[in-house]
Amino acid sequence: MKFYRAFLALAVGAMLAVAPARAVELSIVSGDTGNGIKVLREMLDRYQKQSGNKVDIVVIPPSGTDQFGQFRLWLAAGNSDIDVYQTDVIWAPQLASQLVDLTAATRDVVAEHFASIIQSQTVNGKLVALPIFTDAPALYYRKDLLDKYGAKVPTTWRELADTAKLVMDKERTAGNKDLWGFVFQGNAYEGLTCDALEWVRSNGGGQIIEPNGTVSINNRQAAAALDMVKGWIGTIAPPGVLAYQEEESRGVWQTGNAVFMRNWPYAYALGNSETSPIKGKFDVAPLPAGTGEDARPTATLGGWNLAVSKYSKHQDAAIDLVKFIASPEMQKYRTLRTSNLPTIKALYDDPDIAREQPIVPRWKQIFLNAAPRPSAVAKIKYNEASSQFWTAVHNTMSGDGSAADNLADLEARLTRLKGKGW
Ligand code: GLC
Repeated sequence: MKFYRAFLALAVGAMLAVAPARAVELSIVSGDTGNGIKVLREMLDRYQKQSGNKVDIVVIPPSGTDQFGQFRLWLAAGNSDIDVYQTDVIWAPQLASQLVDLTAATRDVVAEHFASIIQSQTVNGKLVALPIFTDAPALYYRKDLLDKYGAKVPTTWRELADTAKLVMDKERTAGNKDLWGFVFQGNAYEGLTCDALEWVRSNGGGQIIEPNGTVSINNRQAAAALDMVKGWIGTIAPPGVLAYQEEESRGVWQTGNAVFMRNWPYAYALGNSETSPIKGKFDVAPLPAGTGEDARPTATLGGWNLAVSKYSKHQDAAIDLVKFIASPEMQKYRTLRTSNLPTIKALYDDPDIAREQPIVPRWKQIFLNAAPRPSAVAKIKYNEASSQFWTAVHNTMSGDGSAADNLADLEARLTRLKGKGW
């Protein structure tokens, strides 16, 4: 009898595990950069086995700017086809009202994450998204080429430009015709706001809009930084850099055609992959700084999160999925394959990660000190403010107006946008 009861309990338990009472179909939307979608699919396959739910990925273009526009349209239309959105760190204030409050459901796990990242996703006391990885850029450099010409890793932009030119000229003379000195993200989109905030702030030019709401961008150091960058186009950087996003820069770099690259940590694992021509030939360093007063190295803070749509018909299952992908186990899995920086504190002491992706423990202090974009202060006007900024920068780099004139014009536009307050 006892045996029979135990058997029955086991059988019922097994049935529950294999076929949950209410299996549902979920969809998650994510941009496609590097091997991100491939790794997401692997994680979702595990989740499907464990939960019995089915999850589809809706893949959209890698530009955060395009994604943001699409998400806003879907959310405005109350689209219930998307349950989970992969969201950029800067979007929380702008999308908050259309996302589910995760505070109660994640109470048991939030303390595993860095408090500052959880804070960045909290709007008026509501946790609008759970972080899955954080981001802070690196200066990627070709160790082999710097060694060959006895050059050291640059710590100022001036040194970077000088070394880029020296190596490029010598290599080209020796027949390496396609080599460029420096690639970065020069397209007119959110990525350029990240790069340009680094140029400006690292040169003592402030952070566009200061935390107290002051529009500070129209200043001499900021203009000097943009003039410097203008001087790179067509000299150390290919003219095409004006259209590059992350993946175009990585394309040039990973085929061996750049001495330096500014990019996020995801490019580290890919550059060291089995088929990569530069495997083992590069390393990473903090981005350089300017040389004037207040100059200091600056890395823009990035990062991605998962949010549940208010219009999802399966909110509980969607929250369960979000917690699964954000968990320490899955963040470790992701980091080992993508070199994305985890948001779970303990993973910075993980020996497997330190061995496989040594950039991760090295980048802990860099991301903890990274400069946020002014999204918390500009709130719902951030996207417009950022697009005004990257447009002024892109115009300057393209020779359309001087840095000083474009920044004076930008100041007027941002002040108008600010109106009576942000
Ligand atoms: C990276 C960052 C993100 C940023 C984007 C810009 O994906 O993580 O925060 O907005 O690059 O292209």
